[in-house]
Amino acid sequence: MDTAEIRRRFLNHFSERGHTVVPSASLVAQDPTLLLVNAGMVPFKPYFLGDLKAPWRRATSVQKCVRTVDIDNVGRTARHASFFQMCGNFSFGDYFKAEAIPFAFELVTEGYGFRPDDLWATVYLDDDEAEAIWRTLLPAERIQRRGKKDNFWSMGVPGPCGPCSEIYFDRGPEYGREGGPEADEDRYLEIWNLVFMQYARGEGSEYGYEIVGDLPARNIDTGMGLERMATILQGVENLYEIDISRPVLDAAGRLTGTRYGADPAADVRLRVVADHTRTAAMLISDGVSPSNEGRGYVLRRMLRRAVRDARLLGAREPVMAELFAEARQAMGPIYPELVDQAEAITAVAVAEEAAFLETLRTGTTLFDTAASQARASGSAQLSGDAAFRLHDTYGFPIDLTIDMAADAGLTVDEAGFRRLMERQRAAAKADRAARRIGNLDLSAFRPILAAAGPTAFTGYAELTRESGVVGIVGIGDGRSLTTVGEGDEVGIVLDTTPFYAEGGGQEADLGRLRFDGGECEVLDVQRPVPDLVMHRVKVLRGELRVGAEVAAEVDVERRRAVSRSHTATHLVHTAFRRAL
Ligand code: ALA
Repeated sequence: MDTAEIRRRFLNHFSERGHTVVPSASLVAQDPTLLLVNAGMVPFKPYFLGDLKAPWRRATSVQKCVRTVDIDNVGRTARHASFFQMCGNFSFGDYFKAEAIPFAFELVTEGYGFRPDDLWATVYLDDDEAEAIWRTLLPAERIQRRGKKDNFWSMGVPGPCGPCSEIYFDRGPEYGREGGPEADEDRYLEIWNLVFMQYARGEGSEYGYEIVGDLPARNIDTGMGLERMATILQGVENLYEIDISRPVLDAAGRLTGTRYGADPAADVRLRVVADHTRTAAMLISDGVSPSNEGRGYVLRRMLRRAVRDARLLGAREPVMAELFAEARQAMGPIYPELVDQAEAITAVAVAEEAAFLETLRTGTTLFDTAASQARASGSAQLSGDAAFRLHDTYGFPIDLTIDMAADAGLTVDEAGFRRLMERQRAAAKADRAARRIGNLDLSAFRPILAAAGPTAFTGYAELTRESGVVGIVGIGDGRSLTTVGEGDEVGIVLDTTPFYAEGGGQEADLGRLRFDGGECEVLDVQRPVPDLVMHRVKVLRGELRVGAEVAAEVDVERRRAVSRSHTATHLVHTAFRRAL
């Protein structure tokens, strides 16, 4: 049965049972607690929590999902993939266990043709109700009770949660031990998870969180992995070999001159290339672009791992354009966004590939030298210093170094690497501060902050202000001064200021400080330490002392021009993000 048919039967089954078919949401989660949508229920979270009223009492969807927690298992097991589609049916305060379990059982047996004899079910430790329902469908010996790790589901973050019940398919003795899912999860493959969403969870580790209350209603959230179902129904070994994945796998083989099925280690790499390419295409089509943080980093990592594994398999030319074309062909019929923006999507991957190949070309020599040095000195560990140099000089992300080291049978001194990174960050910060405010000994500002408290900034509401001088610091030597006169260039700290200190990409305000008998020109405004604003000034006339009153006057025209430019920059960035 092809994947499109499995999908169609799922949606039909539930739409015939009163569920509204809801299209997949974007992979870019609207939820601030998540980087990417990782389950079918994510778009419905506000309905479960009662923050929004659900527009339907029953819904069904096939949701695009990305999960990267298991990324190291991708390619190695039959069931881990970074991108997958989750078929789900949802009840928002409508039906509960007594309907949800038979709904699933009917579809699995009648809709997809599984023999009941091959099915097992699990329930949460104390869920007598679910077990009683299962006993009307399966013999008691094929129902197992399992603990929180397996049979209690949450998104991994505060939000809705509840006990769950899973359906497993027994692939047969050639896949592993007898004894049900509790004994062997490769032989007994989980095909469906029914979550009885009824509690809210708080902060805490994956399994260590507290239940903080009941949800306003008892709900149903289910997930049937489309690719996993296809693996079974198409009689293939793993989810990379199903109809919508296999063409990408075969293309990876062609492009790298590797025959799939000939060598287990090469097969793992081929599967990684196929998996990551597909995930990357889906992420880009939802507007993610490669970067060094957040979801952009997830994408960058996928693309780089795919490119690198293709190289290791023997590719000598770039592969992304062709792999993306295959992914588009396989997935385009379901996700027209892949086809509509085909060129732009491929361009992102091709550019990332080119940049990364250059990085690899230059960094690999250094890596090889460091690896042989480590081995020669009898160590099985690449030094933190080598990992740092690879990062600093060649832009090797640490996970790439770790991956490459693992391939070479080495570990990496990650703690050492992080220490060097931290040292570099601190040095760069001090350097930036020194460049901005001159060669100042920052320690001069701490006593001022301690004595006078933080500078109050009023510059969003006003552009002139009477305020008091609470500190004067000599530029160059950083000495604390009490008086300065004409011609001196010093740092002045006021108790309150309308002057905007350079920050957040916006330039500092310039202007004047006028005082009885004189004035200063403000040349720059910085925060030498958090909470304290320093005006770098040149005294034009008169004598100024700590404790004096000044009229701080921002150059209004300039401030307005800077604000306009800053706003315009944000607008241009937004436009670029949307267009690219
Ligand atoms: N939300 C449940 C899961 O992702 C169905 O497994």
